[in-house]
Amino acid sequence: MDTTPMKTVIIHGQAHEGSTCRIARMIAEKTGGETVEFFLPRDFGQFCTGCTACFTKGEDKCPHRAALAPILAAMDAADVIILASPVYVFHATGAMKAFLDHLGWQWMAHRPKGIMFGKQGVCVATAAGAGVKSTLKDLAHSLFYWGVGRIEKLGMAVSATDWDGVSDKKKAAIEKKTAAIAARLKFCRGRVTPTLKTKAMFGIMRMVQKKGWNPIDVDYWKKNGWLGKERPWKKRQ
Ligand SMILES: Cc1cc2nc3c(=O)[nH]c(=O)nc-3n(C[C@H](O)[C@H](O)[C@H](O)COP(=O)(O)O)c2cc1C
Repeated sequence: MDTTPMKTVIIHGQAHEGSTCRIARMIAEKTGGETVEFFLPRDFGQFCTGCTACFTKGEDKCPHRAALAPILAAMDAADVIILASPVYVFHATGAMKAFLDHLGWQWMAHRPKGIMFGKQGVCVATAAGAGVKSTLKDLAHSLFYWGVGRIEKLGMAVSATDWDGVSDKKKAAIEKKTAAIAARLKFCRGRVTPTLKTKAMFGIMRMVQKKGWNPIDVDYWKKNGWLGKERPWKKRQ
């Protein structure tokens, strides 16, 4: 059993401390351990240039690699990755999307990190009224395709534009939901097995890699043994 403090990284899709930020922090606080936070676009505000170097030459060839590095390192070290975004016109904020665009190379279709399959992820979204579902989907797509083994979602229509405007009744519901999520995160630590859906997607991507359309991806899958019998969720013998 892992007795080291749980590590959580929160990537905030906005740079202010409103309802979304509060809810994400409540989950991290209830989970306990260490938390590292990044606020977008303050801590990373670049737009993908579309050069595709990350896909064809390697992620270290991204023109924004230096700015991205601290966030990637924190995500690699974390047990739990929280992606939190207010709903902006039914979707995640532009800042969050710009960040996620930079990680297309670590989707399962390319070079997913083996360590992601043992991690847990949480998507947090708040709206004044509508758009939570599509926003959670925006966030969950990336966690799923990175290979994150277990994903929680917490969406709230808070009927407010800031935390002070959120009713006591809603705050009580948020307390309950964040406590339940934190309890599950703690319980599942060290025993995350990816869902059947993740394993099936990995299998499809494996077939694509067997056909081999992007040499550096194929090489990566071969080196990891994933075109043979190894799988990222299995411990190496
Ligand atoms: C640019 C912008 C677009 C928004 N679009 C929506 C929307 O599509 N649906 C909605 O219900 N609320 C929308 N809102 C309201 C916020 O999603 C809502 O107040 C949210 O709880 C704010 O979170 P925060 O306190 O973390 O900033 C929008 C707010 C802004 C600033």
